[in-house]
Amino acid sequence: MEFRRQTNRRLHEEHVAVIDLLARVEKALVRAQDASVLADGDFQGLLRTLLRALEFEVGAHFDFEERELFPRMAEVGEADLVALFEEEHVVIRDVASEVRALATKALGEGLAPAQWQSLRTHGLELCERLTSHAEKEEGALLPLLEDLLDEENDREAFAAYAAG
Ligand SMILES: [Fe+2]
Ligand SMILES: [Fe+2]
Repeated sequence: MEFRRQTNRRLHEEHVAVIDLLARVEKALVRAQDASVLADGDFQGLLRTLLRALEFEVGAHFDFEERELFPRMAEVGEADLVALFEEEHVVIRDVASEVRALATKALGEGLAPAQWQSLRTHGLELCERLTSHAEKEEGALLPLLEDLLDEENDREAFAAYAAG
């Protein structure tokens, strides 16, 4: 889908990027047999990329949606959809914070076998939940916003996003 509004284009690009990254993370986690993978340079690089992405994707991106976009959707009668997205944000923030703590430790002092299992399990859960969430927003949030945002409030929303 082609988006007319810059806010939607930006969110779309971020969804595509995170879906792509999560697919790579999921593949690496499924393939990894045990904690010895943590010594692998490519795997470490992937964890670093994931940490950077989570800081943004589950930070500013979620905050912006909650602050600027969900209220507009609720106003036009989409309160149920908003409630679903908000609930998913809560669950994803939780699992992402587990993953962030474990991945940070993995890149530092390393992980005990049980912690590695926990990173793997939480990591796979994050991949599944965040991918499905981003896909859902692609299907329901962005098309709706195309109709909701006019040129002026698109500009305002985008400026608010850029300002953090
Ligand atoms: Fe979201
Ligand atoms: Fe999103």
